Amino acid sequence: MKKIGILGGTFNPIHKGHLALGQAAMEQYDLEEVWLMPSKLPPHKSHFAMLSEEHRLAMTALVAKENEKFRVSDYELKRGGLTYTADTLELLTKAYPDVKFYFIVGGDSLIKFKSWRRPERILELAALLGAGRAGYEAEAVNEAAEGLRRQFPKAEVGTVILPDHPISSNEIRTAFYTGEKERVKQFLPETVWEYLITNRLYDKITFADLDEEMQTILPGKRYLHSVAVAHLAAAYAVSLGHSPERALIAGILHDCAKAYPDEQLVADCDKYAISVTEVERRNGFLLHGKLGAFYARTKYFITDGEILSAISYHTTGRPGMTDLEKIVFLADYLEPFRTQPTEPELNEIRRIAFEDIDKAVYLALKNTLRYLESRGQETDMTTAETFEEYRIKYENK
Ligand SMILES: [Fe+2]
Ligand SMILES: [Fe+2]
Repeated sequence: MKKIGILGGTFNPIHKGHLALGQAAMEQYDLEEVWLMPSKLPPHKSHFAMLSEEHRLAMTALVAKENEKFRVSDYELKRGGLTYTADTLELLTKAYPDVKFYFIVGGDSLIKFKSWRRPERILELAALLGAGRAGYEAEAVNEAAEGLRRQFPKAEVGTVILPDHPISSNEIRTAFYTGEKERVKQFLPETVWEYLITNRLYDKITFADLDEEMQTILPGKRYLHSVAVAHLAAAYAVSLGHSPERALIAGILHDCAKAYPDEQLVADCDKYAISVTEVERRNGFLLHGKLGAFYARTKYFITDGEILSAISYHTTGRPGMTDLEKIVFLADYLEPFRTQPTEPELNEIRRIAFEDIDKAVYLALKNTLRYLESRGQETDMTTAETFEEYRIKYENK
């Protein structure tokens, strides 16, 4: 029987680490070929910075073309609807009755293998190989394989342990979007590098990309609020003589951290060594500005410091705000879906914002502080300090 490995993945983009894995599996398990099989994306999930099926398939095909023992398979992409591994293998084994398939998965997937759909069927249809990086996850992967062999004695479960590979697709995308693509060139097959450059892929994060992402991760009302903030912020930017683009981006992202529960915000701050005050620890949502800026930088590749700081201070403001910071702060407070706390006053500030943005900031801060006081809520120190700066300007006139 012919022995063929199947290496699936989004391949966004395919890089030398994938090839090293395929190569190692081939040598270790005496495989004749490895088929690279780009996967279809599950619907209703975040596909941020994900290239189209056509691009992912085209790059995988380029790689297969120059490596004799690799082939590209569009098997999953061609199939309609949801694609489960068990179904894919069912079809493949029928189509190729004289082939024994070795299904290669990442270490994480092997560890979670029992939660896959119909794991026992997968193991009847193919051998399963879990990849692990030496010194990093190899032990856990070996253990998971051992566990599966005990539970499914007839199954063939193995591991492919590779030296720790210095790159992931996510790092490659990050380097491209943040203007450091030369740094990762060495990890890409030359044809893939050229394909990415020629087609200007991973080139620029656009408002449309971020809008789509926020629509996916934010609850409906929060998404509408964010779109409204983005558009109002763009209008303020233009009225102050700036281009609308950065305001749009800061606006659509300003509440991106609100997609996550408070506990996660606190946990992420601890994980990434972001300082948390006692008040913030008790009220996790207060962190959504700070952490929103962190996510904007790490998840959405925003490197513009002023955009990040506008996201960071959108609820509290800060002394010495830049135009963009004022714009996002005000747009968040004044966007048309907001009706709290008092409509007539809000409309008055809405009008003033287009004439004198500082005065609008002053009035918005004054209202906010009064509102918090009336409800006996704690006031953020930064807000109080910011207000003081504007109070001096407007109350002594
Ligand atoms: Fe917010
Ligand atoms: Fe907001």
